[in-house]
Amino acid sequence: MRVEVKKASYLYDKRTGHRDRVTVRRAAGADAEYVRGLSKKVFHQYGPYEEIVGGWFDSRKTMTILALMEKRPVGFAMVSQLEREWYSLRVSELLAIAVEPAKWRRGIGSLLMSEIERKTKVLGIETLILHTAVENPAGLGLFKKCGFMKFKIKKKFYPEGQDALMMYKGIG
Ligand SMILES: CC(C)(COP(=O)(O)OP(=O)(O)OC[C@H]1O[C@@H](n2cnc3c(N)ncnc32)[C@H](O)[C@@H]1OP(=O)(O)O)[C@@H](O)C(=O)NCCC(=O)NCCS
Repeated sequence: MRVEVKKASYLYDKRTGHRDRVTVRRAAGADAEYVRGLSKKVFHQYGPYEEIVGGWFDSRKTMTILALMEKRPVGFAMVSQLEREWYSLRVSELLAIAVEPAKWRRGIGSLLMSEIERKTKVLGIETLILHTAVENPAGLGLFKKCGFMKFKIKKKFYPEGQDALMMYKGIG
């Protein structure tokens, strides 16, 4: 069995002046409940995302990574492992990214994004795509900071009727 080495990063917290140790690892089956719980907490306004993200997690066609502080999960990111062609490029979709609200703005979302990019690039993925609600300043801010470009608006994309912005980033 291959044991994954966890990578540690030290994120500076402007409010406390501390450097928080954050590790990232692949999620395992036992993490399903955590992923569902956080999805319910942060995506409930868009629809039944506890079930939707939970279904993706269980599907084997996705890869999920967790961020941990003091061995407790504080966020996750999930990508499709599919290598479909989009404008002749090998593409993977960032399906969800979420951080515990109490830990927002400490760099954890950015850390998860850079780890997703690294892992998908190793798999030969050339482009990442994603959808985020047009009225989600945190999502839009994170993805813009990480270098994603606007592609197009998709009307009523979410089960509760919100519009989404589709974005992309070349990583190849
Ligand atoms: C989006 C989310 C994952 C960001 O996580 P995070 O750990 O706070 O992200 P970071 O601390 O790495 O922030 C990176 C950058 O994103 C932007 N950003 C983050 N939160 C923001 C907010 N509320 N408003 C505007 N910009 C924001 C900033 O540019 C920030 O950099 P800065 O702090 O140096 O200004 C988090 O807010 C979250 O879980 N939201 C709910 C779920 C969600 O909407 N996910 C995205 C759609 S799938």
